[in-house]
Amino acid sequence: MSAKKINIAIDGYSSCGKGTLAKELAKELHYLFIDSGAMYRAVTLAILRNDIEINDVVAIENLLPKLAISFEYNATLHHYQTLLNGDNIETEIRTMEVSNWVSPVSKIEAVRDFLVKQQKAIGTNKGVVMDGRDIGTVVFPDAELKIFMTARPEVRAQRRLTELRQKGDINTTFEEVLENLRSRDLQDSTRLNSPLKQAEDAIVIDNTNINREEQKLLAYKLAYGKIKSLGLNS
Ligand code: DC
Repeated sequence: MSAKKINIAIDGYSSCGKGTLAKELAKELHYLFIDSGAMYRAVTLAILRNDIEINDVVAIENLLPKLAISFEYNATLHHYQTLLNGDNIETEIRTMEVSNWVSPVSKIEAVRDFLVKQQKAIGTNKGVVMDGRDIGTVVFPDAELKIFMTARPEVRAQRRLTELRQKGDINTTFEEVLENLRSRDLQDSTRLNSPLKQAEDAIVIDNTNINREEQKLLAYKLAYGKIKSLGLNS
């Protein structure tokens, strides 16, 4: 292998902390972090903003070429911001409204084709940590390291609720978050087009009973182990 870097795919259920782990790994390895879920959320937001019916495939197909999705690191906030045609949409894409529509939107073939093509292109030169649902199976089937994350739904819902509260959402209840997670897990894993599925060669991390630090150290060990085994650590 000539490349000095590897690609890391992190897939798993909703609100398992995939993004947190992917960001930590990317920072540690000086790799690029890509939140593929944010890309599906950006398309969902654009569909909602344009009052397009979810079943109107023609209107959605016409909309897609007009969408430029990018990411920007905000050094002050220590946070990645998602941009849609240059506008910061990071807050809007995390609302419950977008969360409720994103699974149906991500089932649409034209949407997946549009985003998967971009995601594959980002990974061509390696050095990418991407989190999502189909990264190890469809986007980077040849990723050198694949991690599949899971945790008990109640634990995930509580973490997600804490995040929403920190962002100022005081209305959403635990039950609503739990219902949204369960519904998205079901829709994401039963859709026909690239469903959420553990890649055969993925390593499972269940973080129900391990904390963020333990999980981080485990992932670093996996990444450095892989890099070393491929002779790429020079
Ligand atoms: O990672 P997230 O929860 O922000 O993702 C939002 C939704 O986007 C998720 O419910 C399913 C969809 N998604 C997908 O279908 N494929 C991906 N690679 C990433 C996300």
